[in-house]
Amino acid sequence: MHTQQAPTPAHHLVLAPMQGLADPVMRDLLTRIGGFDECVTEFVRITHTVHNRPTWLKYMPELANGNRTPAGIPVTLQLLGSDADNMAVNALNAVRYGAECIDLNFGCPAPTVNKHAGGAVLLQQPQLIEHIVHTLRQRLPGHIRLSAKMRLGYADKTPALACARAIENGGAQALTVHARTKAEGYTPPAHWNWVARIRETVSIPVTANGDVFSLADYRAIKEVSGCSRIMIGRGAVIVPDLARQIADFECGREVRPLNWPQLMPWIRLFFDISCGKEAANTYAQARLKQWLGMMKQAYPEAAVLFERIRRLKDNAAVAAALAQD
Ligand SMILES: Cc1cc2nc3c(=O)[nH]c(=O)nc-3n(C[C@H](O)[C@H](O)[C@H](O)COP(=O)(O)O)c2cc1C
Repeated sequence: MHTQQAPTPAHHLVLAPMQGLADPVMRDLLTRIGGFDECVTEFVRITHTVHNRPTWLKYMPELANGNRTPAGIPVTLQLLGSDADNMAVNALNAVRYGAECIDLNFGCPAPTVNKHAGGAVLLQQPQLIEHIVHTLRQRLPGHIRLSAKMRLGYADKTPALACARAIENGGAQALTVHARTKAEGYTPPAHWNWVARIRETVSIPVTANGDVFSLADYRAIKEVSGCSRIMIGRGAVIVPDLARQIADFECGREVRPLNWPQLMPWIRLFFDISCGKEAANTYAQARLKQWLGMMKQAYPEAAVLFERIRRLKDNAAVAAALAQD
């Protein structure tokens, strides 16, 4: 019988999981600006316990909104750990509270995480990776999408292909590759050609990730990796409309990057949403300063604004300073 396959979309843009940076407020804001087709939560660490509903909702408030950001973009829940059984119990628990897409983190370089045998350290043990993926695939209902994210290796790239195969053999439906080893940290370049090798090795969809800071980088990573699915992390925070520029480019629309005055309303909105989330402490100001600190790389005006708010103490004063521009 002839079965019709859904056509592969020409492009699919994912906002990267970034602990302490792409939190629910940042996901909300960036998906409102537009261009993203999907985002991934910060990693939720799985140790010995089973998280309760408030904890899942803290990491992923979108669970209470049909797994979507307020702008309607689907969100995937990312888990990090190495105890397959406990990860499966936690994943099932998250599914009970509404999660539909689960991603496994095999790339986190943080020393505390690696000390407890999670993240990139697992890249040294492809069999364990396969066991974890397989265990979760067996226990999760069939309609739950299971994916994984990896770096190219720990000390070197030797395990890259074996790890990708392990993820596929374990039953993951999709794979994201941050094109660097753990040892390479965030030092450029990202080895996009390795993503191409992995894409040719496995038959599941591969998303390419690493060092996309501009539309030109996006075109280059697509070209070199051969992937139509691209994940963007820091670049999406530094240039908040980067995904929108890319989507406009892909859809044949005119690309009109936002200038600073056009970005200001988004910055005010970010601060408003942050204050709404946690008005009583320094959360909103800390997040705003963190964001401006990153945006300085692309907009000199961000440095000026940063200086203006740097010493301010209360949210009302910061809001007044933001209103000046
Ligand atoms: C502050 C920060 C936090 C991150 N947290 C996570 C995380 O929770 N889970 C994960 O899989 N990757 C995490 N990453 C890695 C990113 O998802 C991404 O792979 C990496 O930043 C490379 O993409 P980029 O060059 O577009 O930023 C983090 C990266 C940064 C900069």
